[in-house]
Amino acid sequence: MSTADLVLGIETSCDDTSVALVDRGGRVIACETVSQFDIHAEFGGVFPELASRAHLEAVLPTVSKVLKVVDGDISRIRAIGVTRGPGLIGSLIVGVNTAQALGLAWGKPVFGVNHLRGHLRSPDLEEKRITYPALLLLVSGGHTLLCHMLSATEITVLGTTRDDSVGETYDKVARMLDLGMPGGPALDRLAATGRAVHRFPRPMIREGYEFSFSGLKSSVARMLEKDPGVDRADVAASFVAACLDVLGTKVRRALGEHAAKSLVVVGGVAASQQIRQLVEDICTEAGIIPCLPPLRWATDNAAMIALATWDYVDRGAEADMRTVPSMALAAW
Ligand code: KG4
Ligand code: ZN
Repeated sequence: MSTADLVLGIETSCDDTSVALVDRGGRVIACETVSQFDIHAEFGGVFPELASRAHLEAVLPTVSKVLKVVDGDISRIRAIGVTRGPGLIGSLIVGVNTAQALGLAWGKPVFGVNHLRGHLRSPDLEEKRITYPALLLLVSGGHTLLCHMLSATEITVLGTTRDDSVGETYDKVARMLDLGMPGGPALDRLAATGRAVHRFPRPMIREGYEFSFSGLKSSVARMLEKDPGVDRADVAASFVAACLDVLGTKVRRALGEHAAKSLVVVGGVAASQQIRQLVEDICTEAGIIPCLPPLRWATDNAAMIALATWDYVDRGAEADMRTVPSMALAAW
């Protein structure tokens, strides 16, 4: 008889339908992700109504595909974990209802998982990387958070953004530079070819741990309006330099005030080569361990949700499907 050694994770909070099987140690047995890139590209952003419909079509075939990897042996599934928020409500409902229906049919417990908790567990996929206590910087499309972590479940939020997130700012600046969608990766690549010759503002850099990025974004817009012929790679490089300066300054400040053995940087923007380099530099300076998710687990995926579900299982948490409002990382 096989043991129930796997969690089935389901992630449908935004524009990727993802399903995974992950063991307690973070080994990814299977992960399938269906991207909605082609559906939203023409709108220049995620169209929520179309996202929900695409999740509806993709979710059950994706579950079936993942189950094939274990020959359909559902006795190996210990629990089902599903993103319950933050995210687009129609998209979340598709995932949550699918998880609850499967749980009912198979007699398995179902846990609603905070999406941000998924991201913060992503560096421990495939092998354990995080050493506690740790400083966490979460930079995704929806969120920017600086936190101190005593363990994966004991988290103090030090600061968040007052307006746009880092990923959102990358995407908006990429749109101003006609780089298409999703803009973050394209902007990151263009910036690597330019020179940071323009001095954009570094909002709130001198104060505490809160972030603000909308002023920086507007300042890029003003420059492009005033001087349409300006070298785009230089603008991209100068914008990225301003972001990295703000993020690096706040992280260094937090490392000076909070004990940490490692620096954990997660969320889609953690796929940026320039952010990864910044993390390496800070960690070398501070003599601590850099903990980044492997590239494929930096952006949204169900493997990180499945791994975070083990924390809920081990904690004996109750199934809770209330949707989580944004910035609710400290809450389960
Ligand atoms: O974590 P994520 O996949 O979704 C959310 O939870 O929001 O993050 C998506 C964000 C987008 O803003 C995207 O442009 C950005 O991550 N991103 C990047 C890179 N890859 C994804 N930004 C900069 N460089 C990249 N290589
Ligand atoms: Zn995410």
